[in-house]
Amino acid sequence: MLIKLSLISLVTLASAAPSTTTSTSAASTPTAAPLLPIPAFSGTFANAYPPVDKTAPTDTPLVKQWLAELNLTAMPDFPPTKFNSGGDLENPNSVPADTCDWTVTNCINKDITNCPKRTWGLTYDDGPTEFSPQLYDFLDTTDQKATLFYIGSNVVTNWQAARRACAAGYHIAVHTWSHNPSTTLTNEQFVAEIKYTELAIKELCGITPTYFRPPYGDIDNRIRGLLVQMGYTSVIWDIDTNDWMMAPGGTRTEAQVDAAFDQWVAGAANLTEGHVCLEHELYQNTVNAAIKNLPKIQLTWKAMPVAACVNDAHPYQEKNITLATLDGAQTGSGAAVKSLSASVVAAAAVAIAAASFGL
Ligand SMILES: *[C@@H]1O[C@H](CO)[C@@H](O)[C@H](O)[C@H]1NC(C)=O
Ligand SMILES: *[C@@H]1O[C@H](CO)[C@@H](O)[C@H](O)[C@H]1NC(C)=O
Ligand SMILES: *[C@@H]1O[C@H](CO)[C@@H](O)[C@H](O)[C@H]1NC(C)=O
Ligand SMILES: [Zn+2]
Repeated sequence: MLIKLSLISLVTLASAAPSTTTSTSAASTPTAAPLLPIPAFSGTFANAYPPVDKTAPTDTPLVKQWLAELNLTAMPDFPPTKFNSGGDLENPNSVPADTCDWTVTNCINKDITNCPKRTWGLTYDDGPTEFSPQLYDFLDTTDQKATLFYIGSNVVTNWQAARRACAAGYHIAVHTWSHNPSTTLTNEQFVAEIKYTELAIKELCGITPTYFRPPYGDIDNRIRGLLVQMGYTSVIWDIDTNDWMMAPGGTRTEAQVDAAFDQWVAGAANLTEGHVCLEHELYQNTVNAAIKNLPKIQLTWKAMPVAACVNDAHPYQEKNITLATLDGAQTGSGAAVKSLSASVVAAAAVAIAAASFGL
C-alpha cells in the first residue's frame, strides 16, 4: 500500500519542485537564535554533487574513496530487488525470508520503530522543500524539535532551509540522495546515495548524520549491513499518517489524516510503548496537516526527535555536539545544549493526567 503510489508520485513531484523554487526559502529567516554554530556558506558548493533526483553515480573519485574506506567482506551478499514501473516489488514471494525485507514482510532487525511509553517520535520526511519554512516557523513557536529525514537532492536545492534547521538544533538525518527504494540499489549505489547526502549536510551544517530512514520503508539485511559499515542507525515507524496520499490525485483526504491523529491521541493512555510517526514535509497540504495536528499530539504525548526518545544525546559523528534527550542528558557544553521545552513537557504532564481520565 505504501509503495504503490508513492514511488511514482513522490519522486516526480519532488523533482518538479526544486527547479522553480530554488531561492524562495531564503526569504524565511530563523526566528530563534542559532543553537548550533554552522559553517559559513557562500552559496556555492565546494564539492561536486550528482544530478538531483537521479540515482547517485558510482564512478566518481569520491565514491571510490568512500568504498575503499568500507570493509564489505562480511556483508550479507545477495542481489538487489526489482521494483516495477508501478512502484511495486516484483516477485515478492521469491525474496528469501532471511533477507528480512521490510517491504515483503514488515521485517525489522535492529531498526527503531517505537519510542518509549508516552513519547512520540516526531519525524518529517522528504525535505527540505519550499514548504519547509512554514513548518519550521510553526515548530519554533513551541520550541518543538523533530527528526528531519532529508533527501540529498533536496538539501542541495533548498539549502537555506537545511541550514536553518541545522542551526536551530533539529535532528538532521538521511533519507538517500534520490529517494529510490534502497533494496533496488547495488552496494555501490547505496553507499553513494548515503555519502553524497551526508557530504552535502556536512558542507552546509558542519555535522555528519548517523540516522537513516529508508524511502518507503524499503530495507533488508544487505542495506542494514551497509548502514552499519557507515555508522548509521535505521529508523522505520509504527504509525503512518499516509499524509503523502493527499498529493494531487491522491486517495486520502485531510479529514482522514486528522482522524488518524485523533485515534492516536485517544489511544495514548493504554499503550505500553510510544510511537514513531511517519509524516512528510513534502507538499503544502502535508505541512498544513502537520501544523494542524501537532498541538493535540503535544497535549497527549511528549513529542521529540527519535534520537531524543532513545536518549541519544549525540546523534552526529561530531560527538562534541549535544542535543536534548528524553531523560534530559545534557553532557555537552556551549550553544548546542538545549533542554526540552519546559512548556511542552508541562503540557504533556497535564495531558497525561487528563488521558488517564479517559480523554
Ligand atoms: C574485513 O572484515 C572481515 C570479516 O569481519 C575481516 O576478517 C577482515 O580482517 C577485515 N579486513 C580489514 C582490512 O579490516
Ligand atoms: C484502556 O484500558 C481500560 C482498562 O483495560 C479500558 O477500560 C479502556 O476502555 C481502555 N481505553 C482505550 C481508549 O482503549
Ligand atoms: C568538534 O569535533 C570535531 C570533530 O568531530 C572537530 O573538528 C571540531 O573542532 C570540534 N569542535 C569543538 C568546538 O570542539
Ligand atoms: Zn520519503
